[in-house]
Amino acid sequence: MTVKEYVKQRKEEIKELVSKMERKPSIAIVQVNEDAGSNAYVKGKLKDAAELGVEAELIKLPLDISQEELLKVIDQLNNDDIHDGFIVQMPLPKQINEETIKLAVSPKKDVDGFHPLSSLLPCTPKGILNYLKSEGIQILGKNAVILGRSNIVGKPMARILLKESANVTVLHSKTTFEDMSRYIENADIIVVAIGKQHFLDNRFKYKKDAVVIDVGISRDETGLHGDALPELPVRIQTPVPGGVGLLTRLALYENLLEIANNK
Ligand code: GUN
Repeated sequence: MTVKEYVKQRKEEIKELVSKMERKPSIAIVQVNEDAGSNAYVKGKLKDAAELGVEAELIKLPLDISQEELLKVIDQLNNDDIHDGFIVQMPLPKQINEETIKLAVSPKKDVDGFHPLSSLLPCTPKGILNYLKSEGIQILGKNAVILGRSNIVGKPMARILLKESANVTVLHSKTTFEDMSRYIENADIIVVAIGKQHFLDNRFKYKKDAVVIDVGISRDETGLHGDALPELPVRIQTPVPGGVGLLTRLALYENLLEIANNK
């Protein structure tokens, strides 16, 4: 199944589950930026909520808000009985420390799964794992190569694939091209999240059965592009757009339902 087909099917299932709940799950989205990528993500998240029958409230705050004021808003959301969960959309303005904000969100309401004590998985790696499983891709004992070591994707993806007993290698900006080629050539699963348009291309060799999960999004005059050149000679490659972004959005509502159902 393509990512689009998988997401459509899973959304139908979630919609059905939500329709049977006594109380509609409710999410708040706090946005403190005018970032184009974030606007697109937030718009998508609100559209998903409407489709799934979930209550969603967008709380847009001024770009010059102080960290203290933002922490007050978070404290209110942590303690209200209205929202089952909330997210603070990243990136944040430079007067605000992102790590402080991530730690301020109560693990009980942290649908992003960013807090170290959260029992939920971060949305992007969670969405990717669920998709790999739905496609019946074996992870146990397979060579998984992750390009990029970000806190949002690379590091949690490595942890999750390791838990699934893959042989995990994390490559990054200090890895030599020669080493990168060697690891990629032997990889069964490649997750690329470095934000460099079409970085994975035909300079590298691939296993013909490899699975490439493209987390990158960059924009130029011609549109949105992933970190991988389209149509690499592999078994599965997720497209951009219409790939991982949809999986991340889906995982957010999977997490929200987990919280709402455990109350
Ligand atoms: N910015 C980019 N991706 C995400 C995400 O999954 N959650 C939040 N809160 N911000 C993001």
